[in-house]
Amino acid sequence: MKDKLDQLKSEASAAFAAAKDAAELEATEIKYLGRKGLMAALMQGVAGLPSNERPMMGKLANEVKIAVERALADRRAGLEAEKRGAIATSEWMDLTMPGTRPPKGHVHVVTDAIAAVTGIFEKIGFTRVRYPEVEWDWYAFEALNMPKDHPARDEWETFFMAAPEDPKLGKMVLTPHTSSGQIHELKKGKLPIRMINISKTYRRQSDVTHVPMFHQFEGLMIDKNISVTHLKGVLDHFAKEFFGHGRKTRLRPFHFRFTEPSFEIDISCDLCGGTGRIGEAKCRICKEGWLELGGAGMVHPNVLKACSVDSEKWSGFAFGWGVERTMMMREGVKIDDVRHFYRNDFRFLTQF
Ligand code: DAH
Repeated sequence: MKDKLDQLKSEASAAFAAAKDAAELEATEIKYLGRKGLMAALMQGVAGLPSNERPMMGKLANEVKIAVERALADRRAGLEAEKRGAIATSEWMDLTMPGTRPPKGHVHVVTDAIAAVTGIFEKIGFTRVRYPEVEWDWYAFEALNMPKDHPARDEWETFFMAAPEDPKLGKMVLTPHTSSGQIHELKKGKLPIRMINISKTYRRQSDVTHVPMFHQFEGLMIDKNISVTHLKGVLDHFAKEFFGHGRKTRLRPFHFRFTEPSFEIDISCDLCGGTGRIGEAKCRICKEGWLELGGAGMVHPNVLKACSVDSEKWSGFAFGWGVERTMMMREGVKIDDVRHFYRNDFRFLTQF
């Protein structure tokens, strides 16, 4: 009997330890520990032993049963741990790892350029202003010394609004330039003035150098004893700050109705270093070393008069040009079509 018990103990322990899964474990349990199992059969055998052998064998049988039950419990715990281990491996994650960041956008290149332009002028005392994109003819033309039907108006290929005309201010238009900001500012009557007006402007044009909607910035300085020298100083300051310290500006006589004298402002070309030549060849982007930036001049007395400012006491200068154009002239920026700014092509926009 003792041998049988020992054999059962080792056989059952080995069978439990070898059970591969819960189903196999259950079958093994039934085989050895079930009501009609091998352990029960041996217990019955012990009960049938002569009374002098029974206590000893009974004790041994109980020990065997406990050992076999422990082997079952151990394997059950082992299978459970294996299962949890498998889940831990397949579903493992490192909670300390940084998350995936959503792509971060940035401001549009034109917004960026506007901020740069604003910053440069604010440092020398100019205040940023904005005026409506929908304007009256009087502000856009007439007060700027361009009477009704004056041919100079043709330069501004204006969008007219389908809106009733105002008896005094005339037709409603989409602002064709930022110069109308001068009129708004002068009419406030608060002198002296140092304004930088940056806003959207509209013209009926579309080609590689024109878009129907673009941005301009307009400077106006009105004070006592202001001369062309001040204008030149401010423009030089801007050119150096925005384009780099090696750049120079020049004023070229021109004609605008709202300034007298009037100029076109040129900036020295960065590609050829202002010489107009690269080796033997002519520079392909400038005219003899200069690039045209925009317009400027001393504010015409008629403009001051239209805004009830005493032109005997006050004088000043104004200048204005396109933000996109200015951006295109920045060092290293090789944009060959102004319309790229507004095509919303990510490949273009993410370069800035
Ligand atoms: N408004 C002009 C344009 O759109 C540019 C300009 C020329 C602005 C001369 C000025 C100026 O302030 O003085 O072409």
